Amino acid sequence: MLRRGLFITFEGPEGSGKTTHSRLLCDFLKKEGYKVLHTREPGGTLISEKIRKILLDPKNKEMDVACEMLLYMAARAQIVKEKILPSLKKGKIVVCDRFTDATLAYQGYAGGMKLEVINSIASIVTKGLKPDITFLLDIDAKAGLLRAGKSKDRMERKSILYHNKVRNGYLDIAGKEPGRVKVISATGKIEETQERIRKAVLKICHSRI
Ligand code: TMP
Repeated sequence: MLRRGLFITFEGPEGSGKTTHSRLLCDFLKKEGYKVLHTREPGGTLISEKIRKILLDPKNKEMDVACEMLLYMAARAQIVKEKILPSLKKGKIVVCDRFTDATLAYQGYAGGMKLEVINSIASIVTKGLKPDITFLLDIDAKAGLLRAGKSKDRMERKSILYHNKVRNGYLDIAGKEPGRVKVISATGKIEETQERIRKAVLKICHSRI
């Protein structure tokens, strides 16, 4: 058991393999005896999963970027209150696929919303919570979209120009916070990438026992 919880997030453009890596990491940590909550954004609670459906439904193609950003934030407010903070309080490791960095990259860098506005709303809905460590699985936007498959959701249907801005946005965030955000190429071997992720996480875990 950790003295205090650990909050780990996975980020990356579409098709970066973050879900695979976060699942592998959780399986490993559970085997090591840690208490783990694996969740995703938008989603992870009844209300947030309902909001996810609205956000990703291709029929909602008229959605305004401010509406989009606020819906992502609404989903976040719920999961932070209902799941993430209580789990961290109990000393669990919380592994979340995407968090506030995704709003900065998608609705900010790509969608054109001001980063200060996003950061200020995020500070309200997250109650100031920031990940202890973030793995940014980096991949060329076009290659990632190809990997993501054919039945595309509303976000995946946005232009390649948009998705390139998402990727560059993520890299910019990583450049600003190198201590927290670890950039890892998503094109390497799964086993090697996973090994790097595990090592980085265990290092923090051992410092908190
Ligand atoms: P997923 O495909 O990784 O499950 O995420 C759902 C989509 O939502 C993905 O295209 C990224 C996007 N997204 C945002 O645009 N802003 C956000 O704040 C979050 C959490 C996700």
